[in-house]
Amino acid sequence: MLPTNPRLTPNLELRPFKRRDLDSLLDAVGASLPTLNEWLPWAHMSYGRRDGLIFLRDSVTAWGEGRAYDFTIRSRDDPGPHLGNVSVWYTSRQSSVGEVGYWIRSDESGKGIATEATARTLEVGFDEMELHRIVLRIAVGNDASERVAQKLGFTREGLLRQELKVRGRWLDHTAWGLLEEEYRKKRSQYAEAGWVTSA
Ligand SMILES: CC(C)(COP(=O)(O)OP(=O)(O)OC[C@H]1O[C@@H](n2cnc3c(N)ncnc32)[C@H](O)[C@@H]1OP(=O)(O)O)[C@@H](O)C(=O)NCCC(=O)NCCS
Repeated sequence: MLPTNPRLTPNLELRPFKRRDLDSLLDAVGASLPTLNEWLPWAHMSYGRRDGLIFLRDSVTAWGEGRAYDFTIRSRDDPGPHLGNVSVWYTSRQSSVGEVGYWIRSDESGKGIATEATARTLEVGFDEMELHRIVLRIAVGNDASERVAQKLGFTREGLLRQELKVRGRWLDHTAWGLLEEEYRKKRSQYAEAGWVTSA
């Protein structure tokens, strides 16, 4: 299990969830459901307290078991609101492969938050979890998310046909990958872009 200290970026604080994050989580989900519902299987339009509580319970358990690391994204200047989630988890421990996922509340999107939070989460994946490769799956048509992957230097590796069912429809996804050696070369560019602090 990784330590639970906050991971900082120039503008953001990423920290593990606590059960008392329920209200701020629900506020962010509620403000974003029309967009989240378009791409993410869990984000059904009646998402409520029970769903939030189950998520928080599972998140705390997964962290404790060292399976998956979910972070609440907060602004360093105003840490009250939950700005979104970013997560990294093992897909194969044996091969040191992991996956990242993210969402940002709709009224805070377009400000670079996903890119900055994910850049820091890649650091967790490669430096702390000692992953060799991190993947990202993006529904075809989710252009904003593809842009995040591109900015971070992921390579589009292929098409996953009917990978996830969202709102009753099977959605094709593109598969993106970033290798540890690529991340090590990119890291100085992340710092120059202001997404992570200089090493
Ligand atoms: C996708 C998402 C995480 C992006 O978060 P964000 O904080 O707005 O991302 P950033 O600001 O770091 O970067 C977004 C980039 O996409 C671009 N973008 C936004 N909407 C776009 C669109 N419709 N088409 C193409 N590019 C778009 C932005 O201009 C920006 O690129 P730029 O920096 O080159 O200008 C957010 O919109 C979201 O939560 N969507 C719903 C859930 C989701 O799709 N999660 C990802 C699943 S793989």
